[in-house]
Amino acid sequence: MPKEKAIKDIEDLPGIGEATAAKLKAAGIDTLDKVATAVPHELSELVGISVESAKKAIAAAQESTTVNYETGAEFYDKRVSIGKISTGSKDLDELIGGGIETNAITEVYGKFASGKTQLSFQLCVNAQLPKGKGGLEGSVLFVDTEGTFRPERLKEMAKAKGMDPDAVLGNVMYVRAQTTDQQILTIERADKLITEKNIKLIIIDSLTALFRAEYIGRGALGERQQKLNQHIHRLQILADKYNLAVYVTNQVMDNPGILFGDPTTPIGGNIMAHAATTRLYMRKSKEDKRIVRLTDSPNMPDGECIIKVTPEGVKD
Ligand code: GTP
Ligand code: MG
Repeated sequence: MPKEKAIKDIEDLPGIGEATAAKLKAAGIDTLDKVATAVPHELSELVGISVESAKKAIAAAQESTTVNYETGAEFYDKRVSIGKISTGSKDLDELIGGGIETNAITEVYGKFASGKTQLSFQLCVNAQLPKGKGGLEGSVLFVDTEGTFRPERLKEMAKAKGMDPDAVLGNVMYVRAQTTDQQILTIERADKLITEKNIKLIIIDSLTALFRAEYIGRGALGERQQKLNQHIHRLQILADKYNLAVYVTNQVMDNPGILFGDPTTPIGGNIMAHAATTRLYMRKSKEDKRIVRLTDSPNMPDGECIIKVTPEGVKD
C-alpha cells in the first residue's frame, strides 16, 4: 500500500486539489488550523465540494495539527506577562482588575450614547502610553462598522495627556467595514499588520451591528451565530498569539421577557456571553456621568462604578 503523504499544507488534504485550495485561501481559510476548525457544510458551500469531502478534509486537518499541552505553572508564567491598558478612570481600572487585559476579549454593551465609542477612543490613546503609565507602548487597529470614528476626538484626548496628537493618530490603523465579510476579512488578514506595527489593541466598534443588519429573521439566526462565533474565535486567537487586548462594543435589545430589573440584553446571545472574557454594561447617567457595571469576569467580583466622559476624555 502506498504510504500516505504527510499533510503539511491545505493542498495535501484528501480531496482538496490545487484549485480548491486556492479557493479556500481566497476565502481566508489559509492554514490547516483554520480548516481544522471549519464547519463542514460551510466549507462545502464555500468551495463547492460535497459535505462528505469537507468532513474528510476537516478530520485530516485536525489530525495533522498538534495540540500544545502546558502545565499550570507554564500557564501562570504567561498570565504574569499579561498587559493592561488603563481606561482613564482609576475606579473603572480597579473594577476590572487593573485595566483592559491582553490575551482577552473585553466587551462593552449598552444603549446608544452610553459612551462605548468614547471609551474606545480613550483606549486608542492610552494603549500608546508608556508601560507603567497605563499603556503598552503599542499601536491600535480600529475596525469601525458604524462610521463613528472621530479623529478630532482622539487628538483632543491625546493633547489632554500631553501627547503629540498627530503621532497618536499615526499609530491608529483605521478600517471602515461596511459588510460582515469586510469585517471578518480585516481580522483574518491582520497577522502581518499586527507584527509590523506592534498592534497591542484591536477595537471593533461595533462587533455585532453588521451581523444584525445582514442576517435578518429567524431562519438566518443560526448562520449569523455561527459566523459570529468563528469571528470571535479568531479574535481570541490573535489576542493569545500576540499578547494583545481586544475591545469590542455591542448593542442591547429590549427583552420583554424580563419583568423586573433592566429589560435590556446584549446582542449575540450565548455565543457572545461565552466568548467575552470580561463584560461591561454601560448606562448613561446625569450629564457626563456614566455607570459601568462589571457583569462577567473570570477573576473579579461583579460590581459598579461611575466614570465621566469629558472633553478631555474618560475620567473618574
Ligand atoms: P452608540 O454607538 O450609538 O450605541 O453609542 P455609544 O455608546 O458608542 O455612545 P458614544 O460613546 O458615542 O457616546 C456619545 C456621548 O458621548 C454623547 O452623547 C456625549 O454625551 C458624549 N460625547 C461625545 N462626544 C463628546 C465630546 O466631544 N465631548 C464630550 N464631553 N462628550 C462627548
Ligand atoms: Mg458608538
